Amino acid sequence: MERTFVMLKPGVLHRRIMGEILNRFERKGFKIIALKMIRMDKKIAETHYAEHKGKKFYQELVDYTCSGPIVAMILEDKDAVSKVRRMIGSTNVNDSLPGTIRGDFASSTTLNIVHASDSNASADREIPLFFKPEEMCLWEDGNQAWF
Ligand code: CMP
Repeated sequence: MERTFVMLKPGVLHRRIMGEILNRFERKGFKIIALKMIRMDKKIAETHYAEHKGKKFYQELVDYTCSGPIVAMILEDKDAVSKVRRMIGSTNVNDSLPGTIRGDFASSTTLNIVHASDSNASADREIPLFFKPEEMCLWEDGNQAWF
């Protein structure tokens, strides 16, 4: 099983679409093993987006992601990283296809509404930045009869 980090950015809370996006991940069958709503401070945002430091959108990105609450989560599934990336769609808002989360909800590339790890290495770096090990809730799928 693979783990990936997902962040719903402040626009999601402002637009009241958190449930709609969580629902997409649940319907697809991802196991949510950690989830919390927080307000990111500048230090975490700058660490998270360190690879973009110096780019023209960097400051706006950091300011935006610190401007309101975010929802951070860890999703688990086989090939979770690539599956979630396909579901969220292209970074460039003009290329994100209908049916993807960005394609359906994002109207700006920099102020897009969701982040997901782009590789296993990114997930390994991002997960501990947002979650302590004890904040993860490992659980097993129950008897099929429950469904
Ligand atoms: P995210 O998945 O959070 O990771 C990096 C973020 O930088 C990305 O979503 C966008 O919000 C932003 N970003 C990446 N590339 C560009 C770009 N070319 N122009 C503007 N913003 C970008």
